[in-house]
Amino acid sequence: MSEPHPSDLPVSKRPAWQTLGKLAQNTPTIRECCDSDARNAALRVSVAGIDADFGKQRINDEVLSALLQLAEDSALTTRRDALLAGEHVNTSEDRPALHTALRTPPGKGLPEFEQAVGDTLQRVFDLVESIRSGTHRSQTGRTITDVVHIGIGGSHLGPELVTQALDCSSGPRIHFVANIDGEAITSALKGCDPERTAFVIVSKSFTTLETLYNAQAARSWFLERGGSIEGIAAQFFAISANVDKAVEFGIDAGNIFPMWDWVGGRYSVWSAVGIPIALSCGVEAFTRFLAGAYAMDRHFAEAPIAENLPILAALIGVWNTNFLGAGNHAVLAYDERLSLLPLYLQQLETESNGKSVRLNGEPVDVHTMPILWGGVGSSGQHAYHQLLHQGTRAFSADFIFTRSARHALDEHHRWLQANALAQSQAMMIGDHPEAMEKRVPGNHPTTTFVLDELDAFHMGALLALYEHKVFCQGVLWDINSFDQWGVELGKRLATPIYKQLGGDSALAQDASTRFLVESLRGAAS
Ligand code: F6P
Repeated sequence: MSEPHPSDLPVSKRPAWQTLGKLAQNTPTIRECCDSDARNAALRVSVAGIDADFGKQRINDEVLSALLQLAEDSALTTRRDALLAGEHVNTSEDRPALHTALRTPPGKGLPEFEQAVGDTLQRVFDLVESIRSGTHRSQTGRTITDVVHIGIGGSHLGPELVTQALDCSSGPRIHFVANIDGEAITSALKGCDPERTAFVIVSKSFTTLETLYNAQAARSWFLERGGSIEGIAAQFFAISANVDKAVEFGIDAGNIFPMWDWVGGRYSVWSAVGIPIALSCGVEAFTRFLAGAYAMDRHFAEAPIAENLPILAALIGVWNTNFLGAGNHAVLAYDERLSLLPLYLQQLETESNGKSVRLNGEPVDVHTMPILWGGVGSSGQHAYHQLLHQGTRAFSADFIFTRSARHALDEHHRWLQANALAQSQAMMIGDHPEAMEKRVPGNHPTTTFVLDELDAFHMGALLALYEHKVFCQGVLWDINSFDQWGVELGKRLATPIYKQLGGDSALAQDASTRFLVESLRGAAS
């Protein structure tokens, strides 16, 4: 009988995992292991206009080679190939996860998906061109000046992140509405003219509470201000895998763009879901966005593991989380335009890898996704960086900034870069004066990503890099990165509580919630 592959073993029993455990007991500090130009050169990777510097990670040659062995022990490249070939890597839902098919140029991908992707993209582009050029007209024959994008989670974060990052002004104004808090839709509609506003309702399932309530509120707003049922056909669009529900809501079948069950919501910005990006920046920019992601996909598929950026980022992340005890990971974007990146990555990474069950249904025997948070530098330096420098907890961080600025304020940009580099240096070397209260321990591992510039191409490459890192970490932890059963419980519990708040006599199951429901009912009456 042949030997079982190490990937059949529980994660902590895999030989490379055990080697790493031993190495972690004696790993030198970052300073001790890092200060060499030769080592540093080996820890840099450049792909698609993104330079990654892992030189401030706490890894030496032995750790690196054990990490590369961990990739082998986890059958990482086999699993990557299965992902890209459209195998059913989303095991609990028995589906492929083919977000890469959304950005693969015609003739280069999986033929069975190409037609649907290409046809939908063309329909999106036609609509975008007609709105941007003014040929698309509202119910009363006016051009569209505002678009309200209604969607939440994966149907919101990617489109808003990229639209904000590219910061274009050539198309209609885009308003994003996600939250069930009525403030969101009320505020979005404030400056909108019902005769010149289009609505895009984005929901893969078309059953999401927040989106349906906000869509309903938008519809009523439109109808109460002179809009007609026929007018909805000119001004309401939907993007969904549940066409029947969208039609039932009242969207014209010709205004519905498909999503597919083989694309997860948090991986869907490359599909029709990304329409705000094309609306505000144009079809050409959206095409460049897809091209940047495709460049990263090719690298991920083809580069040897020791030079493969997403694979290295994943392995190093696992080293930090599981062996150096970094229970949280900070995304520190030194670019105002990327202020939503930590939120986007929070969904992408934590909804994907916040799991505790192995693919074979057994409990996972190691920690999985750390808490991910972050913000924008240099502003964060005057707030939570104190905790990073002198707090008690271990963390890892990604620094992200651009080589060149879009604006003409050269000194601002040089100071921005200097601050990013100074912060990662401080996290690495610390400071060790006599006075204890002034000491900064350092030895915190960080990665620096420098983008040539923040345009559509580099945004595409950056987001694809993180997507692939997430997949690889899921493989290393032996979990399914593509389901999200945990979020269902809260949705289930909200329905009876909603009814109780409205007067239903059934009582909540715990004392605290019972008390709060009763006190809120009192406030309402
Ligand atoms: O509740 C979580 C979630 O299902 C996310 O995974 C998803 O991106 C979001 O809700 C929105 O879902 P939908 O696109 O189906 O409205």
